[in-house]
Amino acid sequence: MSTPSALLQVMIDAVRKAARPLARDFGEVQELQVSRKGPGDFVTAADLKTEAALFESLLKARPGYGFLGEERGLVEGTDKTHTWIVDPIDGTTNFVHGMPHFAVTVALERREADGRTEIVAGVTFNPILNELFWAERGKGAFLNDKRIRVAGRNRLDDALIGTGVPFVGRPGHGQFLKELHQLTQRVAGVRRLGSSALDFAWVAAGRYDAYWERNLKPWDVAAGILLVTEAGGKVTTIDEDGDPKSGVSICAANLDLHPQLIEKLRAA
Ligand code: IPD
Ligand code: CA
Ligand code: CA
Repeated sequence: MSTPSALLQVMIDAVRKAARPLARDFGEVQELQVSRKGPGDFVTAADLKTEAALFESLLKARPGYGFLGEERGLVEGTDKTHTWIVDPIDGTTNFVHGMPHFAVTVALERREADGRTEIVAGVTFNPILNELFWAERGKGAFLNDKRIRVAGRNRLDDALIGTGVPFVGRPGHGQFLKELHQLTQRVAGVRRLGSSALDFAWVAAGRYDAYWERNLKPWDVAAGILLVTEAGGKVTTIDEDGDPKSGVSICAANLDLHPQLIEKLRAA
């Protein structure tokens, strides 16, 4: 077992505090679900409220840091080298439908002297299962108080793979079908569970063997990239030379499966 640093503890406390009302709201959503009005506005309010709680706690602890949140965009800080990256509810569609698979996810990005950025800490929390995934650069990845590692399977035909399916208003439907066609013939199974942050966390914990998706945003992937790399896996874009932190496309897997999956995806 490892003890989180003071900085990581700030993130964990902020996430747990912001998620507390969210777990209650989830119960309410399950009620609204069956009403004619539906839970739409209520969910938007939950997103905004959760992000506001995170903004307050994180900026209180580190007043100079910048903040990039899905709901409020970029708020620059006086410290240009550190930025919080936040998705208050990742898996909103699940949340709306009363499905207990969504997460609050927070990462800290640091800009180096040469201009490169890297994620140095990340927390992804599923409040319904009370599963807190966390990682710090160079210190490993954890689920609650247990160290986690990517799965050891090295053959695609044994691999269970997560992905995201495009939906109304999103690009990439044709490309996705081609990729799926390439993979379904070669893998043990493909799942679409609906939270990018948890897809990464589940690769880190060895539940999934790999995960790929396109057209994500930085807040969908930031904590997850660190979780998977600290759990011994590899995360890149699907196409060459991209920055996975942008979310443009991602392929996450253990070191054996990663090149095999990339090869199939590029052939699609
Ligand atoms: C979504 C989830 C989903 C992914 C979508 C994201 P949201 O985030 O991560 O798994 O497929 O592309 O937009 O909207 O629930 O925060
Ligand atoms: Ca998201
Ligand atoms: Ca979201």
